[in-house]
Amino acid sequence: MQSRQVALVTASAGAGIGSAVARRLAADGFDVVVSDIHERRLKEMAEKLSAEFEREFSSYLLDVTDESNVESVISQIAESKGRLDVLVNNAGWSKIEPVAEMSTETWRRCLDVDLNGTFYTMRYALPIMQANRSGAIVNISSIAAYETSTEHGAAYSAAKAGVLALTRVAAAENGRFGIRVNAVAPGLIYNDFLRKIYPDEFFDGYAENRSLVGRVGRPEDVAGLVSYLVGPDAGYVTGEVYGISGGVHPHG
Ligand SMILES: NC(=O)c1ccc[n+]([C@@H]2O[C@H](COP(=O)([O-])OP(=O)(O)OC[C@H]3O[C@@H](n4cnc5c(N)ncnc54)[C@H](O)[C@@H]3O)[C@@H](O)[C@H]2O)c1
Repeated sequence: MQSRQVALVTASAGAGIGSAVARRLAADGFDVVVSDIHERRLKEMAEKLSAEFEREFSSYLLDVTDESNVESVISQIAESKGRLDVLVNNAGWSKIEPVAEMSTETWRRCLDVDLNGTFYTMRYALPIMQANRSGAIVNISSIAAYETSTEHGAAYSAAKAGVLALTRVAAAENGRFGIRVNAVAPGLIYNDFLRKIYPDEFFDGYAENRSLVGRVGRPEDVAGLVSYLVGPDAGYVTGEVYGISGGVHPHG
């Protein structure tokens, strides 16, 4: 078994939270396994990390909606590395359509990526963690899970609320195995891709008028929180949801 702790981060080859988490956990000393549905960006991300940290990083093409793909990737990681210590469920997808107009395809795709995908990875990672009697899982949910807002879409909100319930029950079941399971609920964490989803007005004045800290969120902000949650200082933290929204969406 190799000595570095192994962390699998889903959807970690994009422009947002996933790649920032991968980079931060690499800096923390983890052997990060990069995974994404996008083949070219996946390779580029693993190469970037290898150059930056001067060690090899493995990467797997992983569509979290494909259960057999998830099972195969996780068993390959367990076989090649002999351990899986951390799982960060970052893959997410949304399309904003009002309920009265929503296509079944949108509803199903959202539930598939955001909720079912989170279940599949946990389903196959947990037995490995249970056998090692240790592990930490962080599921990336969203403030959409608990808001009455038209900004996110019902499919996404329902899926992200489901992620919170999944997180809490999995935490309850796995504490006795030394496994902690938590969720993070970000507000707006800016990346250029979001411009394609939200209208310009959504971003106008956000930093100045909505955020309490005078700026939008950055992927690195969430990565810092994930780093804490999977690390030794969070040993008493499980079954929790951590909001991170610059004070825009407090809950409690
Ligand atoms: N950005 C925000 O403002 C924000 C706010 C709240 C929650 N979130 C959540 O944070 C997570 C990361 O979002 P982000 O905006 O930072 O983008 P990101 O760059 O971290 O993730 C996008 C990546 O997801 C990959 N992906 C899409 N479908 C996939 C699938 N089926 N399997 C595997 N990979 C897939 C894409 O290829 C892309 O590389 C998501 O779960 C999202 O719902 C984001």
